[in-house]
Amino acid sequence: MENKKPTFLELLIEAHIGLDRQGPGSSKTVEKALSFLGDLNRFKNIADLGCGTGGQTLILAEHLSGNITGLDMFPDFVDALDKNAKSRNLSGRVKGIVGNMEDLPFEKDSFDLIWSEGAIDNIGFEKGLGHWRSFLKNGGYVAVTCPSWLTDKHPDEAEQFWLDAGSQLDLIGNNIALMQKCGYQFIAAFALDEECWTDNYFYPREQAISRLVEKYKNCDTVTEYAELNRREVELYMKYKQNYGYVFYIGKAV
Ligand SMILES: C[S@@+](CC[C@H](N)C(=O)[O-])C[C@H]1O[C@@H](n2cnc3c(N)ncnc32)[C@H](O)[C@@H]1O
Repeated sequence: MENKKPTFLELLIEAHIGLDRQGPGSSKTVEKALSFLGDLNRFKNIADLGCGTGGQTLILAEHLSGNITGLDMFPDFVDALDKNAKSRNLSGRVKGIVGNMEDLPFEKDSFDLIWSEGAIDNIGFEKGLGHWRSFLKNGGYVAVTCPSWLTDKHPDEAEQFWLDAGSQLDLIGNNIALMQKCGYQFIAAFALDEECWTDNYFYPREQAISRLVEKYKNCDTVTEYAELNRREVELYMKYKQNYGYVFYIGKAV
């Protein structure tokens, strides 16, 4: 049993650092999104923003021959990406850097593809796409997942949960219009399967949280953290017909 009381942020990192993913997604979904991008050999310089420990970054590296820079605000996640890339002999062309998606530390017009899963809602869909546009070459692509309303009905308790977490969900059509407003041609949008949430994220995360509860016995912060995560699962199971992650793919024009 651990004596030191962890903070919420420390718990978030500790719960997620050993997981393949830090949000809903799958390799099948990455491949489906890539299928809309035409000839993949054109992608020489790629950014993966909010990459976490790099689950999707490494899948991208299997399908693309270019250099991939994963950016995340948490140094622990970036270190994990670098270690994971090294263990797969990919460190020559997959590198992590610590940075802020809202203020990218890159040269303008430098990327053929900007990828981002489960992260853009932290800064806002329009703000993110608008800021990232100038870092893409003309004709480059953006491919992002963002939690979105799938129906016109927006249950209050789900909406409030997401707002408290710092994310404002929008309808798919509204997000497509925002993408177009930010200087992209709309290419495709599709909703992620339920397994992306459950099998690939919630179930492994629940195991990690159970270990934290065991490790930090009788710690209020851990109890609160576990409850918040379980509430997220409960709301998703109740309202999964109303909201979900959606992949949005656009071309910089
Ligand atoms: C839900 S996780 C998704 C991680 C990974 N892309 C995945 O799908 O497994 C969101 C990630 O975005 C990162 N993030 C959130 N806001 C950020 C910001 N402003 N700049 C950089 N990274 C950020 C978090 O640290 C976290 O790793």
